[in-house]
Amino acid sequence: MKFLVLHGPNLNLLGKREPGIYGSQTLDDINTQLKKLSEELGCEVSFFQSNTEGELINAIQAAECNGILINPAAYTHTSIAIRDALSAVGLPCVEVHLSNIHRREIFRHISMIAPIAIGQICGFGQDSYLLGLRALFNYVKNK
Ligand code: DQA
Repeated sequence: MKFLVLHGPNLNLLGKREPGIYGSQTLDDINTQLKKLSEELGCEVSFFQSNTEGELINAIQAAECNGILINPAAYTHTSIAIRDALSAVGLPCVEVHLSNIHRREIFRHISMIAPIAIGQICGFGQDSYLLGLRALFNYVKNK
């Protein structure tokens, strides 16, 4: 089984970006933990980060995998185009966020992606990604 992990805009700044909200781990740290977990689970993961909506859409369209783990970052709240791309490819997808978007500003309470995702995990920092990968893996395995 193969999974694509997509990170949206500004997540390349993790580690120095608002550490009180997003933690002190870098994106490389998170990817390393995901890789380690994938080895335990016995699946493969590949990673892609972009600050550009179109590049994320191109990555979704080109995905050759069994499912997508995505933190769409700010595009969560605005991007019908990313949602449409995920719907179009029809791959199971899990949405994750480091912070609990429902405890933050009202504009972060809305997700364009959640209605087409299997589920959403937020508020657990790096663990949101790890829980998300486990959930996606189990979903695909049991399907
Ligand atoms: C985020 C939450 C979003 O609202 C925000 O725009 C981000 C990060 C998170 O992981 O907590 O960039 O997706």
